Amino acid sequence: MTRIQLSPAPAGLHGQLRVPGDKSISHRAVMLGALSKGRTTIDHFLLGQDCQHTIEAFRQLGVPINMVGDTVTIHGVGLTGLRQPAQALQMGNSGTTTRLMMGILAGQDFDTELVGDPSLSKRPMKRVSQPLSQFGARVLTSEGGTLPSTVVGQPLHAADVQLAVASAQVKSALIFAALQANGESTIREKLPTRDHTELMLRQFGADIQSSADRLTITVQPHPVLRGQHVLVPGDISSAAFFLAGAAITPHSSLTLQKVNLNPTRTGIIHVLQKMGAQIDIQPLASDGEPLGDITIQSSQLRSIDITATDVPAMVDELPLVALLAARAHGTSTITGASELRVKETDRIQTVTTTLRQLGVQVKELPDGWQITGRDAWKLQDPVFSSFGDHRLGMLVAIAALTSPTALSLDGAEAIDVSYPGFLADLRQISGGDQQ
Ligand code: S3P
Repeated sequence: MTRIQLSPAPAGLHGQLRVPGDKSISHRAVMLGALSKGRTTIDHFLLGQDCQHTIEAFRQLGVPINMVGDTVTIHGVGLTGLRQPAQALQMGNSGTTTRLMMGILAGQDFDTELVGDPSLSKRPMKRVSQPLSQFGARVLTSEGGTLPSTVVGQPLHAADVQLAVASAQVKSALIFAALQANGESTIREKLPTRDHTELMLRQFGADIQSSADRLTITVQPHPVLRGQHVLVPGDISSAAFFLAGAAITPHSSLTLQKVNLNPTRTGIIHVLQKMGAQIDIQPLASDGEPLGDITIQSSQLRSIDITATDVPAMVDELPLVALLAARAHGTSTITGASELRVKETDRIQTVTTTLRQLGVQVKELPDGWQITGRDAWKLQDPVFSSFGDHRLGMLVAIAALTSPTALSLDGAEAIDVSYPGFLADLRQISGGDQQ
């Protein structure tokens, strides 16, 4: 386990930064490239461990994939061209790889075993296997509904499915099953979740319609998918760490370039605006996903209330919303976020522990937190833990920016799951000496 020192940034965060490619879009680009005919090139691909697991899984399924820097070239085999892997597919820490693969593998003519790391092996998979069964799919989970799981490949039929949880991973798994079904399928969501799968499938040639309220998706089966060029925009979930850092660290003025501004992901920007952050957005021309430059300056924030309908557009940023609340005037309430209990860690619990270590008054709720902001941290213990969760590790680094003294972080290696260059990028904009 790696322990690092995290420095304060008394002069604030400054300059311009292009964050790595979006994690969700990088995974999907590999998947659609593999399931298409012809060549797909992906630029600004995220080199984090999660996305590397997606690449490795498709190599084992017989798809030729080359990587040079952050450019990935895939020689697609088509929707029916995958072949049985020689061994179980290793999903690492990646919930997205696992759940989307379940939908892809469900309609193949072979069986596949999926395994993961200890954290992923605790996460719920019945939320995918149950709705997939409505397409006739069979995913055999371990007792407790977890990995290791075996996807028994077999012919799928069309279905009309209502999702029980607001999850883009589950929705995407069902869309992949629907592509292999014997007729038109419909997938209905309670709340709109990120729609990268739908947007990218359209780019690759699939017939997939979304209703105006984005809640109903209609999928036609067996499209001929054609290889494409995909430019992955910057990950707003990675940019969010620096946006939060700049908002709460005095004297900051920072621009994050070419960030994905898909409205299903921009909840953190609306939160920052509502809390009184000074933020300016310059949209940029794009053929695919919307993107733009975001400039932010530090300012005094005020408290905020977040409820269930706000959650999907900022589900991965809620730990940062909690950190912002911890530095805002007043008491914030975040509810409707029980999904955080089944992320890489129980993030309601791990964020509560972290904020309390910073001296913040936090009430842990079953589905969120009540947080009273303070003007400065009151350190209870300078040694923090990532709890093996990449987003918690990066959150501690952002908290350190306004700390009176350096903080230690145990388990810093977890950051590589989604943002291997995070500490170097933070150093670049903070003038700090993070190791
Ligand atoms: C993701 C969906 C979200 C998110 C995860 C990535 C995706 O998970 O938390 O980091 O790429 O579809 P849920 O589907 O569990 O909400």
